[in-house]
Amino acid sequence: MIRKMGKMMSDLLVPLMIIFSLMLITCGDTINLTAKQQQGKRIYESLCDSCHNLINPKTHTDTEWVQAINRYGIKLQLQPSEKDAIAAYLTFANDN
Ligand code: HEC
Repeated sequence: MIRKMGKMMSDLLVPLMIIFSLMLITCGDTINLTAKQQQGKRIYESLCDSCHNLINPKTHTDTEWVQAINRYGIKLQLQPSEKDAIAAYLTFANDN
């Protein structure tokens, strides 16, 4: 009985481990972010979609993002540290 349970566990464990590994790979982006970038991502996703949909980070250069963060950060009354964090995230996530 106990051996049978062990067999069942290992039958389940292998597919589960494969699923978890895939999840880790697809979420890799978030895992590799620094604490500051993660904070910036959270602020970006929670505040920058209040007037328009979130804009794909890849569609703008570093300079364009910094300008946009300054322009819209005023409207959101962001602290300098919050703007810094968003910039850290977007200039990392745009891949250029
Ligand atoms: C108060 C409303 C408002 C908030 C909040 C806001 N935006 Fe916008 N955003 C706009 C409007 C309106 C436009 C279109 C302006 C235009 O085309 O002249 C725009 C356009 C943009 C664009 C250019 C879009 C494109 O690709 O053509 C970027 C980039 C952008 N916003 C980034 C941000 C970021 C980053 C934040 C968060 C810090 C943010 N926005 C928050 C109103 C807002």
